[in-house]
Amino acid sequence: MKRVAVLGATGSIGRQALEVIEQHDDLELVAASSGSQPLDGMAPLTQVGGDPVDLLEQAEPDVVLNAVVGFAGVQATLWTLERGVDLALANKESLVAAGDLALAVWQQGGGRLLPVDSEHSALFQCLERRPPETVDSVVLTASGGPFRGRNRSELEDVTPDDALAHPTWSMGPKITVDSATLANKGLEVIEAHFLFGLPYERIDVVIQPTSVVHALVRYRDGAALAHVGYPDMRVPISFALTYPERAQVDLPRLDFSSGLVLEFEPVDHDAFPMLGLARRSGEQGGSYPCVFNAANEVAVAAFLEGRLPFLGIPEVVERTLEAAEGAPAADLDGLIAVDAEARRLAEQALVAA
Ligand SMILES: NC(=O)c1ccc[n+]([C@@H]2O[C@H](COP(=O)([O-])OP(=O)(O)OC[C@H]3O[C@@H](n4cnc5c(N)ncnc54)[C@H](OP(=O)(O)O)[C@@H]3O)[C@@H](O)[C@H]2O)c1
Repeated sequence: MKRVAVLGATGSIGRQALEVIEQHDDLELVAASSGSQPLDGMAPLTQVGGDPVDLLEQAEPDVVLNAVVGFAGVQATLWTLERGVDLALANKESLVAAGDLALAVWQQGGGRLLPVDSEHSALFQCLERRPPETVDSVVLTASGGPFRGRNRSELEDVTPDDALAHPTWSMGPKITVDSATLANKGLEVIEAHFLFGLPYERIDVVIQPTSVVHALVRYRDGAALAHVGYPDMRVPISFALTYPERAQVDLPRLDFSSGLVLEFEPVDHDAFPMLGLARRSGEQGGSYPCVFNAANEVAVAAFLEGRLPFLGIPEVVERTLEAAEGAPAADLDGLIAVDAEARRLAEQALVAA
């Protein structure tokens, strides 16, 4: 029996995780948390809002599914990695923001870090834990979001409702907007760098509009392995929670007789500058990825509230990155201070945008 704690249990990933747990006899839900929604006896231990560390200490889970959205998930990621408890990580923002700190405590703790992001779950499976030197490069696929094919001027007047209409995935609002700007793919490039120890120049991105190919690994011998499947987050959630068992999941199998479309397109960096900004912040290192993440969270919230146009999102992020110092944070308190300062700078940039 694996004892599972689900953080962010009321969200899109959290709810799908509860379904997966329900279907596996050897998974036991021991704790659940949310930001503000009630949990009504969902698990033996529950917590609404606040720092999840006390909940986790009491629950003593074998695996923590971190499905909180945004920087708010950082304490749980660091706690889990430090204790050597297995971490099923959906909350990519915590690994992006805490990067080097997270790697250091992961190494100390010695537990498993199992990605739930579908692209990274795909890479984890295709990589089979082979050393980075056997890998030529990895390729993350992106659907391109609802605005794929539009040029910059065609993005001037898009609304939050337009941005929330994702063509292939049904997700929470923040990641859906991130998919529309391609910031999500930028966060994923940084996430892949930290998860798999690869330099940024060996992490590529390509548009694959039907979201059937989740990622590819190009090996040094010329072979390329792809991970394919219909877009359904219950697959990578189940993979992470039942690892290494690869348990039965009752979902439709890939059907080659029903017109599978596997086209690939390059990214339009002029219309979607967030991917390049994220990559640059990753290459700069230090706390720049944390700043990128914080500025993006502020800008996305302002866009959803109607305070910022869609094209203002990269503007705010770029200005914040220019104004920030980017020195590495020594510990969690330092990181929280970097995040807070970046949010302050982003709020200033909002006024100017
Ligand atoms: N959705 C997907 O298909 C998908 C795919 C890949 C990766 N991810 C990643 O998974 C994470 C969750 O995404 P989602 O789409 O499930 O988001 P979501 O639907 O917005 O759910 C977010 C969850 O986080 C909780 N939460 C929000 N603020 C919190 C805070 N300050 N403290 C504690 N809990 C808080 C929410 O609680 P309340 O309900 O009470 O607000 C909710 O349970 C994100 O990092 C996202 O990038 C999602």
